[in-house]
Formats: sequence, structure tokens, C-alpha cells
Amino acid sequence: MLMPKKPVRVRIHPQSMGTRNIRRQLQRQVYREMGISRSRPTTAATNRQILSVLHPTHAERSAMQSVAHDFSALPAESRAAFVERARIRQVLLQNQRIRQIVERYPRLGASLDSQIERALTQRGFKCTSELWGARKAIAAGIKTIDARTGGYSEIMNERMGKVAGSMLANVRAPTIFDIGTGAGSTILQVVENIHPAQRANAKIVISDVVPTALKSVRRQLAAMGVKPGNVIIFPVGFNHVCSTLRTMPRQPFLKKFPGYNFRKNLLSLIGQVDLFVSGATFNNFPKINGILRGTKALLKPGGAAVIWDWAGIETTARALPREQLERKMFATEGNAPTGRENLLSFSEYWLRSYIKDEARLQEALSRLQRDVGASNSFDFIKWAEANRGLFEQDWQKIAGQGRRNRGYRTTEQIAGDMQRAGMRVQSVFFPLYEPGKITQGNNQYIIIARK
Ligand SMILES: C[S@@+](CC[C@H](N)C(=O)[O-])C[C@H]1O[C@@H](n2cnc3c(N)ncnc32)[C@H](O)[C@@H]1O
Repeated sequence: MLMPKKPVRVRIHPQSMGTRNIRRQLQRQVYREMGISRSRPTTAATNRQILSVLHPTHAERSAMQSVAHDFSALPAESRAAFVERARIRQVLLQNQRIRQIVERYPRLGASLDSQIERALTQRGFKCTSELWGARKAIAAGIKTIDARTGGYSEIMNERMGKVAGSMLANVRAPTIFDIGTGAGSTILQVVENIHPAQRANAKIVISDVVPTALKSVRRQLAAMGVKPGNVIIFPVGFNHVCSTLRTMPRQPFLKKFPGYNFRKNLLSLIGQVDLFVSGATFNNFPKINGILRGTKALLKPGGAAVIWDWAGIETTARALPREQLERKMFATEGNAPTGRENLLSFSEYWLRSYIKDEARLQEALSRLQRDVGASNSFDFIKWAEANRGLFEQDWQKIAGQGRRNRGYRTTEQIAGDMQRAGMRVQSVFFPLYEPGKITQGNNQYIIIARK
């Protein structure tokens, strides 16, 4: 909606209405303008100006869709690469109601900014739901990631399955909680690796912020011998699961599951989980302290969490000193990649995303390898700027600031966070690491911690 044709009467009655209601009115308006409505797809957001502000650089039908998955979790400063908040504010203030509310209640000016922030997050979730709106789409999406990463995710899920299976060997009726189930690749492997008698008695909790595939995962689990009544679905972000341990969230997605009792399910799980598993998901959490505390609260004493994800050294600093590039990543057993190997393997993935031409890609890779090897301190963004001729046009604006997700952590960081959350780190290892090679497998770690 551009400027409304007819003047709109603003229904605000300061005497009869508290600012809470007015704030709600403001939120409704902001959400409507930004296209956070159930009935419309994100590509048909009400306000076309907003749409153009949301994807200023990309020629794709909706760049917001292409980044939605990570967008919901991107640190605020990275979001700046995708959205111009000041411009969004400007456009929103063209809406007569919003403008009048802000003018009449200047304190709500700050609230407008936080409403924009919330709307952006909701939009991220909604885009992701649309993008992965069907089981097939979510499975295909994960296959694409898997293919881009050289098939290593699937191999890690297989490893995870075996590790989890052996950890549960003596538990007759295990309760297993999967964080970030997606289309089920992790949990199905785990269940595959427990005894059929355990499956018949197992309680399996599947959870994802994009719940579209969860019912299908439940059917697949049932086909493997898990009783459908023993599969609990949490169709919400795990951060919500954790925060609900203290307060009930108002989660619009829950309404999609009528009769679903979030609180009852959650209360029944406190202190009951034998094993948490999570594959390729922790990088979606910008902060994990609360998540680990929630994990601990749900675990049985002696219960364990097994997580696999990609380690990323670059999250510690943008310019990495030689000392850090040469140091091996933290592992309690087996060999681990150096910071340099980690950086190269990671960068290879990003370069593949931005350079489609194979010859140019190879050139970029060999330059990168040479420069990372030679430098005392390496900054990927500066390097990319210096080599911008190799990239497709819009690379800098997108990737330079935000596309590289900073939710990745070093193994040292995650082990430290687990300890701080009161868990005991049992082992950390890089099962697919191949010295001297540049592969995505180099960066994939498994961490096991106990309550
Ligand atoms: C790369 S997929 C991995 C799925 C599955 N574990 C596998 O290995 O195929 C990451 C999953 O994490 C989910 N996710 C992202 N943020 C989340 C959150 N806050 N809580 C729960 N799941 C989340 C995504 O929707 C996605 O399905």
C-alpha cells in the first residue's frame, strides 16, 4: 500500500485506551504493512515499497526467501546487509495510522523500531515456512545443502546415529529429543541405530521452528516401529521451548496443531530425556546459553546431548592472526583442523555460492589458498574486496556483510558454553577431518556432553 487514497480515520482514544493497546495497534499496522499475515505469501506483502527495501540487491524472485533460513537467526548487525531499517521506518511512517500513533505518543517511536525488528524475525520464519512449505521441499532443500557440502551432512547423520545408538545401548525405553528435525535425517538415523525392542518403547520428541515436515517424520518413525502416540511434536523453535520452561510463549504457529498441549508435553519432559540429538542446527542459534540451560533442565541426571554442526573459527574475529590460523581446533580425541584449514574449507563453500563459473571459482580458490597461507593476519571480507573482479556483481553487498552466518562457533566456544551451562563435556572430535584437503567434512564436529 502506498499512500492511502482516502484519509484514514485513526481510532485512538487516549482516555479509554492504555498505551498497551495502542502499542498493539501499532504492531498490527506494522505487521500488515510488512506482510506478516497468514493469508498472504511473503512475496505479496501488502506494501510494495517494503518489498523493495527488503531485497534491494537481488534479482531472484525473492532474495528474502533465499536467505530466510539463516535470516531469522542472523545477528542484528548482519541483518543490515539485507534490510535498510531506516528506509523501512520511513516507508512505515507513510502509513497514516502509524504516523499518527508515533506523533501522538512519541515514546512509541522506540517501540516502532522494536516492532520492525520483531516483524523482520517473524518474516524470516514465515519465508522459511513458505520456502519449505512441504515435506518434499524441506527434504529437497536439505539435499541441496548436502550436495553443496559434498554429501558430508548425510555422512555426519549416519555417524551421529551410530554414536547415539551405542550411547543408548542399555536404556530399555529411551526418551530422545531431536533439536531441528527438519525432514528427519538426523533422528531417523538415530532410531535406525537402536534395537527394535527399544524402538517399540521409545519416546521420541521432534522439534523444528519450521514444522511442515514433522508429521511426515512421525509417520516415518511409526513405520520403523515407534508408537505414533509416543512421538511428541514441538512445532516451534527450540529457543521457544527453552524460554517456555519459564514462561509460556504466544506462538502463532502452535495454532496449526489443534488440541496440541505445548505446556503439558513440556512439563512431562522435564528431567526425563535420556538423549538430546541435534544435527546441523546449532549454527541457527545466535545465542546458546539459554538453549543449553533448557537442554540441561530436560535431561535426566546422567543423560547426554550429542550435537553435530560445523565449527567456524571466523566467528571469533574478522581478522584472524597467524597464531589463531595455525592453532588446531579444540578436540579431546583424534585429529582436528587448524584455523587455516577451517577457514579455507568454510570459504570454499561461500565461494561456491557466489561464483558459478567453474574456471573463476578455481582461480578464486587457488588465490585464497595462496593468500591465507602467506598472511600473518587474514580477513576474508577484505580479501574478497581485493578480489572482487572474481565475484558476481552483487556479491559484496550480500555476502560481504551478512551472508556468512556468524552463528557458527569454534569447538572451544561450544564446549565452554556447555560447561558454563553446568554440563560435563565428555568428548569433542572431527570424525571426517582429512589433513591437507579442503572439504566441508573438515569442519564438522561431534560434541558429547552429560548432565
Ligand atoms: C540444516 S537443517 C538440519 C535438519 C536435520 N537435523 C538434518 O540434519 O537433516 C537445520 C534445521 O534447523 C531448524 N531450525 C532453525 N532454527 C531453529 C530453532 N530456533 N529451533 C529449532 N529448529 C530450528 C531449521 O528449520 C532446519 O530444519
